[in-house]
Amino acid sequence: MSEKVFNFGAGPAMLPVPVMERIREEFLDFQGMGVSIIEISHRAKQFEKVLLDAQERFRQLTNLPDNYKILFVHGGARMQFSALPLNLAGRSATKKCLYVETGNFAKLANKDAKPFGDIRVIANTADSNYDHIPEISPEMVEQDAAYLHITSNNTIYGSRYNSFPETGSVPLIADQTSEILSRVIDYSKFGCIYAGLQKNLGPSGTAIVVIREDLLGHAAAETPLLLNYEQCAKDNSLTNTANTFAIYVTGLVLEWLQEQGGVAAIEKVNEQKAKTLFDLIDGTDYFRGVIRPEFRGTMNVSFNLPSEELEAKFLKEAGEQGLYALKGHRSVGGIRASIYNAMPQAGVEALAAFMREFEKNNG
Ligand SMILES: Cc1ncc(COP(=O)(O)O)c(C=O)c1O
Repeated sequence: MSEKVFNFGAGPAMLPVPVMERIREEFLDFQGMGVSIIEISHRAKQFEKVLLDAQERFRQLTNLPDNYKILFVHGGARMQFSALPLNLAGRSATKKCLYVETGNFAKLANKDAKPFGDIRVIANTADSNYDHIPEISPEMVEQDAAYLHITSNNTIYGSRYNSFPETGSVPLIADQTSEILSRVIDYSKFGCIYAGLQKNLGPSGTAIVVIREDLLGHAAAETPLLLNYEQCAKDNSLTNTANTFAIYVTGLVLEWLQEQGGVAAIEKVNEQKAKTLFDLIDGTDYFRGVIRPEFRGTMNVSFNLPSEELEAKFLKEAGEQGLYALKGHRSVGGIRASIYNAMPQAGVEALAAFMREFEKNNG
């Protein structure tokens, strides 16, 4: 991507430019070995160091307690929609698993889980086009459940939990795919957090799973070996050939994030970027946000124009000006600006300037 293009794609998404440059520099000759990172064994000591470094950086960035494992697993985030009930439903004698449905991926999470547990959706905002996050009171969280699953940031709509449900002794599990490491979160409140790498961490196809140790060891007998988190933890993510390149890139992104000052620092930048766009949206009737303001997150800014024709024109002209991949998800249409950690304020300013100009010319 040239310097003049800003990539607002929802994922795979832009990565920090210094990370891309470093990958290019090292690609043909990893640490003087004369071979590429993608050519060395996942069991080579050089790769082992890459893996351990990435895990350690993640642990430092999140202040992760010692009793949590960090796994790199196959199949992206969606594979975990099946792996979670396979690994965890057995914690409950009835295999009861609780889900909150706040968007398309939240819906897929409970749909994919159905073959493996007694799946109960305890709150669902589909009737209002997923425009908010429902209140989850402690009474709604039945204490004999294996876990409660939420989608902490809803990528298509841009809504997020600004506070998390109190779940008593039921482990809280969050799909953080579209917001991992974008804001400070107390991991000790969660039994498990997982995310596909392709937004805030690295390439697609692999996920990171952060899981409390006492939740390992409950997998159903039929769990495929490569979906078994306990096995993955025992083998430190190397049961078979891991996606070495994805883990390497993730390590570099984590190093970059540390250089930016860590999660608290990037959270402030993210808030400013989102505010730039939401202030503009709130200041006019021309652009309309798709969710209620109090549930806005900072990663995905989804909005509509007065007509689909104007949206098509907006996307075409934005593309011509180097504002790439602003089309909303195919299930809802409209416009979506994904502004993950790697998006600089300058990209958001360029988009805001374009939006103001577009309204002036087409309002
Ligand atoms: C919140 C959320 N969960 C899950 C997924 C699915 O991720 P993957 O394509 O890695 O399976 C996505 C993809 O965008 C997502 O945004």
